[in-house]
Amino acid sequence: MHAAEKKVRAFVRVKPTAHFAQDVIKFGPDNKSIDIYIKKDAKKGVVNNKQTDWSFKLDGVLHNTSQELTYETVAKKLVSEALTGYNGTIMCYGQTGAGKTYTMTGATAEYKHRGIIPRAVQQVFRAIACSVDSFITVRISYLEIYNETLCDLLSTTTSNDMQMAIVDCPQGVYVKGLSIHSVSDEEDALNLLFEGETNRVIAEHSLNKNSSRSHCIFTIYIEVRSRVRVLSDIRCINSKINLIDLAGSERLSKTRSEGRVLKEAAYINKSLSFLEQIIIALADPKREHIPFRQSKLTHVLKDSLGGKCNTVLVANICGEALHVEETLSSLRFATRMKWITTEPVVNVTYDSEETVKTLEKEISLLKQELAMHDSLVNRSLVTYGPLTDVQVAEIKSQIHKYLQGAIDEIDIMNFRQVQEVFKQFKLIVRQQEGEVETRLRSKYILIDKNDFATIAAAQKVMAGKQKNTRSLKGLFKSSLRTDFNT
Ligand SMILES: Nc1ncnc2c1ncn2[C@@H]1O[C@H](COP(=O)(O)OP(=O)(O)O)[C@@H](O)[C@H]1O
Ligand SMILES: [Mg+2]
Repeated sequence: MHAAEKKVRAFVRVKPTAHFAQDVIKFGPDNKSIDIYIKKDAKKGVVNNKQTDWSFKLDGVLHNTSQELTYETVAKKLVSEALTGYNGTIMCYGQTGAGKTYTMTGATAEYKHRGIIPRAVQQVFRAIACSVDSFITVRISYLEIYNETLCDLLSTTTSNDMQMAIVDCPQGVYVKGLSIHSVSDEEDALNLLFEGETNRVIAEHSLNKNSSRSHCIFTIYIEVRSRVRVLSDIRCINSKINLIDLAGSERLSKTRSEGRVLKEAAYINKSLSFLEQIIIALADPKREHIPFRQSKLTHVLKDSLGGKCNTVLVANICGEALHVEETLSSLRFATRMKWITTEPVVNVTYDSEETVKTLEKEISLLKQELAMHDSLVNRSLVTYGPLTDVQVAEIKSQIHKYLQGAIDEIDIMNFRQVQEVFKQFKLIVRQQEGEVETRLRSKYILIDKNDFATIAAAQKVMAGKQKNTRSLKGLFKSSLRTDFNT
């Protein structure tokens, strides 16, 4: 089932600041456009060809916007569509400190400051509470990618990191070894989010890393088993919502990094630039090969960016003049994302095992219904199971009597008997055909109509016989004449 073609939606969220650069960043009245002005660098002389003005048009500018309104604008529709089978991905992109984690997870101190993840979890469980004709199950995983290493933030064992691998399969991409946890309510899911956040901090200390150097993917897996049947199969919808807090996009290579930091910088720059390459490739309708496998991040996101799901980007920017270069680069990334067209598809399967179980249940219900109906009309002797040998023999005998004229009617009690009667008639007709043929063959030589050679030979024999008869007749007539003459 194909939905209408859609574009990736991209928003910009500005982190509140007391030093907002009003002369540098200007918002359009439509709340969608944002212009950047950079003053010419006097030191570079009179001739300065560097571009100074940029205009960007996105799907919305979130400036001084509450967490609640941000969620409504960015995530609400995507989450409700995930409940109908469409995969969804929300990504926060931007330099460290611009508000990615605040947008995605939120601040824990105050309830109203909670971010997209806890609100999405709440929306999903509220929908479950309201659904009457489906059975919905929710599972959760929390993956971190640090320096091209996969790390399970909800792992129950200590050293399974080495066994984790990204696997491509016909249903999409999954991470082998990543723990996926069933959750029965909102609290369960939030506990896991909290556990993941805590593990993120612990891992940070043990690896001597910084959370802004890693990508974090919180995934909500939704399975909806509908009681509504399509062609007697049970519809099963499987969708997932990826909520991604990307590593800081600042160009770390520019700062004089050394050792571990330099290694991290190289990995982040590489994975984000691969992400950018994928975005550019996806936006080009002529491109056939998209190099998803270039980095762990893009590989994991293969079926989450690849055009078959709803995708939303939030570019988090800082409002200070100091950060204008990073702001420009984030806005460019967001604009590129908007070029991608997607064609989201519903992830629906039909569960045969479940179908068999449901059909069995329905058959037993129908049998009970029939028994009740029969007892109401005093048809208490009727059975609906397959006919026994004795019953089949009885039907056979009745048909023979009917054909011989001994009885005028055949007893019909249920549908199986009707079918058996026709079956027996068919058998009798076949049998009689056989008998007639045998009888004819015992008396006559039967030649196949299409066996031309045998027909020709027979005709020849016949012609020969006729000739003999004629000459015999002639002989007989001439002998008669001779007799008269004598
Ligand atoms: N829109 C916002 N409103 C209020 N505080 C914010 C907002 N965005 C970010 N912050 C605060 O700014 C700081 C840095 O934000 P954070 O989300 O950690 O950035 P990032 O994850 O991009 O590095 C945090 O203390 C966060 O609470
Ligand atoms: Mg962060």
